[in-house]
Amino acid sequence: MLNDQYRLAYHLMGEFGWMNDPNGFIFYNGRYHMFYQHYPFQPVWGPMHWGHAVSSDLMNWTYQPVALAPDQDYDRDGCFSGSAVQMGGKLYLMYTGHIVTGPDKDRDYQQNQNLAVSTDGIRFEKLANNPVLGPEQIPAGASPKDFRDPKVFEREGIYYAVLGSNDGESKGLILLYRSLDLLKWDYVGEVARSDGQMGDNWECPDVFELDGYDVLMLSPQRMPAQGDDYQNLHSTAYMIGRLDTESGRFHYDRYEQVDCGFDFYAPQTTIDDKGRRIVMGWMETWETEIPTQLGHYWAGAMSMPREVTMRGDQLLFQPLEETKAFRSNGFKASNLSLDGLRDMRVCGDCYELEVVFRAEEAKEFGLKLRTGGEEETLIAYRPEECLVRFNRDRSGIGLGGERRTKVELQEGHLALRIFVDKSSVEVFIQGGEKVMTGRIYPGPQSQGIQVFSEGACTVVSFKKWDIRLDQ
Ligand code: FRU
Repeated sequence: MLNDQYRLAYHLMGEFGWMNDPNGFIFYNGRYHMFYQHYPFQPVWGPMHWGHAVSSDLMNWTYQPVALAPDQDYDRDGCFSGSAVQMGGKLYLMYTGHIVTGPDKDRDYQQNQNLAVSTDGIRFEKLANNPVLGPEQIPAGASPKDFRDPKVFEREGIYYAVLGSNDGESKGLILLYRSLDLLKWDYVGEVARSDGQMGDNWECPDVFELDGYDVLMLSPQRMPAQGDDYQNLHSTAYMIGRLDTESGRFHYDRYEQVDCGFDFYAPQTTIDDKGRRIVMGWMETWETEIPTQLGHYWAGAMSMPREVTMRGDQLLFQPLEETKAFRSNGFKASNLSLDGLRDMRVCGDCYELEVVFRAEEAKEFGLKLRTGGEEETLIAYRPEECLVRFNRDRSGIGLGGERRTKVELQEGHLALRIFVDKSSVEVFIQGGEKVMTGRIYPGPQSQGIQVFSEGACTVVSFKKWDIRLDQ
């Protein structure tokens, strides 16, 4: 029986069992479709299916029948990640078929790319000509077995697919293929490759246009930490540059994290009918124990959808305008002088905060969320180091730890927009310059909200709304 203690109220989760990567994210026939890596029988990773949910506001989701199950020779051990594309009014899913080829399932496997088609967006049929892109089309120098997660996009009537791989010698890389009909694919070239500091395998690549630039997003595995950045075992990164569709090469100067918290992986983007570029990620990470795996019968959730925009040479990630329609029971306070700890006398486990601090003399200031007894989740800022800290050492059961990221004050101010949902916290900092996401598992009574400072500062404004979908 599903235990709903830590079930999220306004984030997408599987109905039962396991969820990982977002797949096939698309706006099709007037609704958003999100598919996801799913093992519908137990809360552990297993032979991958594609779960499916639809939404008109990216907050309320309606489950649909499982879209893909591993039932063919070419995908018998899993329908791995992929994407969706519309062609001739039909919805196509392009996904990786995973097959185990020897006694050691972690080493002996092959991967190929397949299509499934639907006319109603709900029932999908795998094509008779699958696989449409097999290992024989892997170029020399790329791993003969890690060849997965096709993200399809169209430019000037040509379909392109980026695929994640590695060079067989500990460097992640991305390959580009091209097709006129989604059925026959030709290799174009290598898009990008790790410089040696960016992980030994690259998963879930995504390429999209924004403001006249191209953006490449990817999920590097086992990327070594760089100071406070890339502290998770598996990371996410984006680069802004230009994709040369003739050579396949992506030209860029530098890379940044998509999310600077604990739990965010395999993000995928889509564009909607309003022209917005929206990203969602898996709000977990690999090789950790998830508390709901034991006795709760579910594990894994998607992040909030985030609108991606560009400012200067960086991306901004912000909550969607739609989320404001679900605010209720608003509370507002302003111009609070702070030196020490102050309980805000509002509480909850499912809410949004908008808080602006003026730093003044404080050495550190911030918020304590989900407080109760010994429990608290800390979001703090140190002006001298320009450092945000998200500490979950006292957040309840589950993993602790701290993540840190650098953010400048703006005219002495720090603006935070925070979404708390039962077992998640997402912190949007300075209008989306940085985002920090983490799962927490406090006791049900831990619902307090406090502000604190070491030295004088001012809470210029503090706003809180409960978030309720049923209004
Ligand atoms: C990323 C990933 C993908 C793969 C899928 C399998 O989290 O490892 O590369 O397709 O998960 O579930």
